[in-house]
Amino acid sequence: MTDVASQPPAEGDDRAVLTNRQGHQVYDNQNSRTVGARGPATLENYQFLEKISHFDRERIPERVVHARGFVAYGEFEATGMWGEEPINAYTRAKLFSEPGKKTDVAIRFSTVIGGRDSSEAARDPRGFAVKFYTEDGNWDLVGNNLAVFFIRDAIKFPDVIHSLKPDPITFRQDPARIFDFMSQTPESMHMLVNLFSPRGIPADYRHMQGFGVNTYKWVNADGDSKLVKYTWQPHQGVKSLTEEDAANIQATDLGHASRDLYEAIERGDYPKWDLYVQLMDDGDHPELDFDPLDDTKTWPEQDFEPKLVGTMTLNRNVTDHHNENEQISFGTGVLVDGLDFSDDKMLVGRTFSYSDAQRYRVGPNYLQLPVNSAKNAPVHTNQRGGQMSFGTDLAPGQNPHVNYEPSITGGLREGQYPTHDEQGPEISGRLTRKRIPLTNDYLQAGQRYQLLEQWEKDDLVANFVTLIGQAARSVQERMVWHFYLVDDELGARVGEGLDIGLADIKDLPPLASQTLSEDELARLKNLG
Ligand code: HEM
Repeated sequence: MTDVASQPPAEGDDRAVLTNRQGHQVYDNQNSRTVGARGPATLENYQFLEKISHFDRERIPERVVHARGFVAYGEFEATGMWGEEPINAYTRAKLFSEPGKKTDVAIRFSTVIGGRDSSEAARDPRGFAVKFYTEDGNWDLVGNNLAVFFIRDAIKFPDVIHSLKPDPITFRQDPARIFDFMSQTPESMHMLVNLFSPRGIPADYRHMQGFGVNTYKWVNADGDSKLVKYTWQPHQGVKSLTEEDAANIQATDLGHASRDLYEAIERGDYPKWDLYVQLMDDGDHPELDFDPLDDTKTWPEQDFEPKLVGTMTLNRNVTDHHNENEQISFGTGVLVDGLDFSDDKMLVGRTFSYSDAQRYRVGPNYLQLPVNSAKNAPVHTNQRGGQMSFGTDLAPGQNPHVNYEPSITGGLREGQYPTHDEQGPEISGRLTRKRIPLTNDYLQAGQRYQLLEQWEKDDLVANFVTLIGQAARSVQERMVWHFYLVDDELGARVGEGLDIGLADIKDLPPLASQTLSEDELARLKNLG
């Protein structure tokens, strides 16, 4: 009998020959090398070992959050002007500088809490992370589909995520744990009113907004800075799912949102989003009823008009899920000249966390991978070594022996500040650990509730009653207490659903972790 692998190729079979990564042709991919047809396998079987041991390492650690996601590519086209006014009066970032200027982008949409094979119909924020490959290097705008977040200080991030992740023993997501944490975290109310309304389950990735959530800065050529918030608005409109819709979808398809995006791009139905910014003078704003560095707040549009800076079109799918989706790496520290950080305490913490996670998850040379490299800007570093390094970033004519700076024998030199090296207001203060003075945790949550349509309010209340009903009685009472401070109707309706009356909660003292304003104290008094 002749082995299959030793048969000559059929007439006209012009397929390429399978090799291993050493470039050796594989003559038999069906049978391991053994002593005799039934005999023991041999250990020197390089081809088998290479194949199986690579397979053993196919997975890299999944992201600790946002594990399930999907990537697409496209371009961003800048408006360059607001009427007669050039945008570069506010930021010297080149990607916004001229009308019609185009920048390559990669985007990764994601869910947050589930693992990498979990349902895309879960009630969960959605990630909306965009990488702009600009001529000045990469800019990552790492956002979500909801405008605010649960917490305002990065030191609480592991706790909020632990509460939302599965129980460490039963490995089930457990509303009792979630609301235990949230009941002690008054700043989460605005996010909860969003997340447990229909907006908490977007119909798919094409029909959702994106928000930068944290506050950044824009800096112009004179070094003048503004605080800035970013919003993406989909041309496709915004659509959400009820619990019932979501249950029906995930009964048959755990990846409907990735499929929807992939198929739309394949058929040439390219999704688009407009990018808007809201600007505010850099500095303290005692006239506002919220702190602009607080990511549990939005900036009212009537006071801070959203201005269009460009449009993103997604027009290309990935060619390999692992290379381009598992290994793509975004971070809030990845800014280009003209875009900067603010002192938002979440943003500062996030900026450490992303690249720290990626050095662990993908490896120390994650920035050498094509999807992460600054492909439209020159990259010349003195970094060498580390696992999986394959590039040296040498500049043309650079002395290859000089991987340090300063040097006068042919190494790299420092760049020059484009204009000003100083910016922003002067800051002084003592080291401390304090929450921000103006917390105002309930007002915007209440305004958000009042803006919901009747069916959305009903859905929100039903979700709260079902889920909070699974928590300890003391947690239920505290949640109802918060909801009364958010909005009387919300408090009364959730209270009614949980059989908790005003008498049960009116004597609860404020949490030690909160400072109520005079207005809030007055509302509390009225409860009695
Ligand atoms: C992913 C940390 C808050 C949006 C991640 C990852 C970490 C992280 C470690 C995984 C990174 C990786 O392995 O590549 C944090 C910390 C936060 C925070 C410490 C608060 C202090 C937020 C907020 C938003 C957000 C407020 C929304 C504005 C995202 C997105 C991803 C992500 C979209 C997925 C990026 C991708 O698709 O690869 N975050 N995060 N995170 N985070 Fe956060």
